Amino acid sequence: MDKQALEALLNDMSTEEKVMQLVQISGSEYEADAEITGIERGQVKDNVKRLAGSTLGIWGSKRLRKIQEQYISEHPHHIPLMFMLDVIHGHKTVLPCPLGQGATFDPDAVRKGAELQAREAAADGVHATFSPMADLCRDARWGRIMESTGEDKLLNSRMSKAMVEGYQGDDLKDPTHVAACVKHFAAYGAAEGGRDYNNTELSEHTLREYYLRAYGEAIKKNPVMVMSSFNSINGIPATGNQFLMKKILREEFGFQGVLISDWGAVGEMINHGFAEDQKDAALKGMMAGVDIDMCSGCYSAYLEELVNEGAVSMEMLDEAVLRVLNMKNDLGLFEDPYRGLTMESGPVITKESRQLAREAVTASLVLLENKENTLPLRKEKLAFVGPYADTKRLQSSWAFSGEDENTVTVWEAASEVCEPELIKLAVGCTMLDQDAMTAREICHVDHWQEKNDELLAEAIHAAKWADTVIICLGEDIAQSGEATSKASLKLPMVQLRLLNEMKKTGKKIVTLIFTGRPLELKEVRELSDALMVCWLPGTEGGHGVVDVLMGKASPSGRLSVSFPYTVGQEPLHYDMYPTGRPKPENGPGPYTSRYLDCENGALYPFGYGLSYTTFEYTDAKLSAQTMSASDTITASVTVRNTGDRKGSATVQLYVRDVTGSRVRPIRELADFKKISLEPGAEEKVSFTISEEMLRFWTAEEKWASEEGKFRVWICDNSCDGIPLEFQLKNR
Ligand code: BGC
Repeated sequence: MDKQALEALLNDMSTEEKVMQLVQISGSEYEADAEITGIERGQVKDNVKRLAGSTLGIWGSKRLRKIQEQYISEHPHHIPLMFMLDVIHGHKTVLPCPLGQGATFDPDAVRKGAELQAREAAADGVHATFSPMADLCRDARWGRIMESTGEDKLLNSRMSKAMVEGYQGDDLKDPTHVAACVKHFAAYGAAEGGRDYNNTELSEHTLREYYLRAYGEAIKKNPVMVMSSFNSINGIPATGNQFLMKKILREEFGFQGVLISDWGAVGEMINHGFAEDQKDAALKGMMAGVDIDMCSGCYSAYLEELVNEGAVSMEMLDEAVLRVLNMKNDLGLFEDPYRGLTMESGPVITKESRQLAREAVTASLVLLENKENTLPLRKEKLAFVGPYADTKRLQSSWAFSGEDENTVTVWEAASEVCEPELIKLAVGCTMLDQDAMTAREICHVDHWQEKNDELLAEAIHAAKWADTVIICLGEDIAQSGEATSKASLKLPMVQLRLLNEMKKTGKKIVTLIFTGRPLELKEVRELSDALMVCWLPGTEGGHGVVDVLMGKASPSGRLSVSFPYTVGQEPLHYDMYPTGRPKPENGPGPYTSRYLDCENGALYPFGYGLSYTTFEYTDAKLSAQTMSASDTITASVTVRNTGDRKGSATVQLYVRDVTGSRVRPIRELADFKKISLEPGAEEKVSFTISEEMLRFWTAEEKWASEEGKFRVWICDNSCDGIPLEFQLKNR
């Protein structure tokens, strides 16, 4: 439909019809067995169901065709319904959770993964996904850290951009792509105390420099939608926050697409104490520029009244509705309302999609310890123990359209490649101990300590028989994701007991940690010969993990987020501001900024990860010692594979502005490159440093770089390397 026809359609619509384009209701309203995250079915009136512009949470070729047919036939202007879904890290083929995808440090692979997700979702009738989540996460207590690509603004920016590109492709009309939605705008990851939905308090410069960065970068790729967040920022809920939505999102970022609220967030402004009632909430949502009200019911109940009373102008309503109609038009829905609904049975997992997922897993695994080259495993007797050894629950709480039955467990994958007489399985304990069970009822576990005694005895028996014990521990998938904040980052006691008992057998211990958030691993490190973080790896989790255990692939992930010694360090991130009393590196440092009982930094820092080979970084240099604003400097290093296996190095460039009108972080990731090297091979890796990369939100409240000294590290992780220096001269 061309622009004129679209405007003519708009002009012909009644106010009620227009308002309803801005209303999203749960798919469960159209179908009995739909997935929903909150409100119960049957709560919306018939006219809302007949006219609501979009729905969420349902998928499936046949089902959606039926719903669409009926909807269009009843709609006065036959405007198609839009179907949205949370396709976060996979639809049918589930990839590693986003935190694991961040650990790949490979935006190209992430783009390909998003293309696959879009292809599968679109073939199931989905028009838009609520992804990427570009929230910066510095607090492991916040369960939604699993849905982010980590703690760094540059890494998040690159990953979010790659996801938008992968989902949307070059042409949205192409029925193998879906619309992307950058969420949750803004600063949802900064919830105080790591408690979900909580308030955030951020200075404008921290907000702009860190928290807003990845959204802003992703928006440069023209995502069709942006979603408002649940939290308030400095006292104003994001969903009603005009500074955020009008000044920053629309004016500064130039976002022209559809702004959708998070689930119920318009109505939640009442609970926040920001709106008096539903009508006031609808008004405040509209005034902030929220186009679609997801499931709060405020727009459907009161927006027409607000327009009739003149509180919301018809012009404002029309603008919002036109954005939604444009989205439908860009998706090609006016030409083909059944877009993508061709396959009777919907998408299927293919050999190719499995292969892509398998490679994504190996690229995301982060090897933290490998004492005396315990890994890869040799031909030896292996006992697979732990609650993650043979579970299909490897997909995260945000992968509800992927079926567990398609998932390959670690044990199943090991059984494919190991001789049966050389492997044994003994789960050893339940996922959670009793304390955790009461704290998290969602983890419906039906076992008690007595059962664990029995399980433990079996595991000890298997370990005594084996040469090496592969112990698969971690958080249950229901312990990360929305509403899963935790005040402890320890593994459940029952799992720690199993690990201690395994250690007592004197056998080699390879510990695999399955998790959606950083955990406290100090004790685990001491008890393990090898230690690897496997995240929540998805459909091909078992295969990917076993490929690495057996040496078919080398682990190449790097931590996308710092792993603390203890929860008391949270929020923890490598790019901290310096203090007036820095703690000396090797000393107790009384009266300096430190903890009496713990290091300041992470147990395992951002960017850290081992490989099966070793790399040497030599000849690090800068092409010049001074740089002017119109110049660039090249930072280079030679990386050599000094081991005897092929492997990937993730070369990281960090920069510090030594003195500024505002203090600058002790270092910040400025660029990275992942390279693969054969044994003995070397490669010169170069990065370009431009003036633009050195800008920040200065004391004058503007983006600028400032003259002076800069330090540069070209290294292997955020705590590594010897600094080089240059001077920036802006004239
Ligand atoms: C979550 C969003 C999600 C939405 C729709 C909300 O509870 O915060 O991330 O996209 O539900 O399912």
